[in-house]
Amino acid sequence: MPGPAMPVFSPRSRAARCAHGLLAGVAVTAFAGAALAEKPVFTHPFDGAPIDTPLKAGEKSTPALEKFKETGENPYRGQPDALAAGKKLYDEWCQVCHAADATGKMGPSLVGNKHVYAQTATDAGMFAVVYAGASGAMQSFAGRIPQDDILKIIAYVRSVDKQAGAR
Ligand code: HEC
Repeated sequence: MPGPAMPVFSPRSRAARCAHGLLAGVAVTAFAGAALAEKPVFTHPFDGAPIDTPLKAGEKSTPALEKFKETGENPYRGQPDALAAGKKLYDEWCQVCHAADATGKMGPSLVGNKHVYAQTATDAGMFAVVYAGASGAMQSFAGRIPQDDILKIIAYVRSVDKQAGAR
């Protein structure tokens, strides 16, 4: 790094003099990034209309679910315990129609980049499909599977997708 005695690259030495300001800038950006994380709008797969996703009576929220509803990010992604739980739940509730590896059976594939509903590509979008249901055999799971468990199922499906090299 050129010292102050060698102002050869003036933009860089100016940056060095402003290091304090730059650091403050980074902190502000990080803060803004956290504050601007977008609250997801859950939409019905048929018409994109916003849907509410209330907990059923007696159902408890969790920190992960709260974070998801604030940011659209699924905190269970890549978490080994949650993925193990998600696999169990997937095997119990989903694999009969979507296949053990999620590549589809009588229901469509849940992995790869081709979806019946484009919103399935995001975790908030997939959550809304599972919550609200879609056509025919794809019935609403609202009230049947706790929302926190739906998040774990989605994390598991995404993990299988990565292993397949699809995304
Ligand atoms: C009884 C069969 C059945 C079960 C059980 C089932 N699904 Fe489905 N699923 C379907 C069918 C059929 C569709 C296609 C619906 C349509 O085209 O509207 C579908 C569609 C979907 C879609 C949209 C896919 C896309 O390409 O946009 C998602 C996401 C999904 N299912 C997730 C799940 C999850 C997660 C579970 C377990 C909690 C589950 N499904 C359980 C039959 C099923």
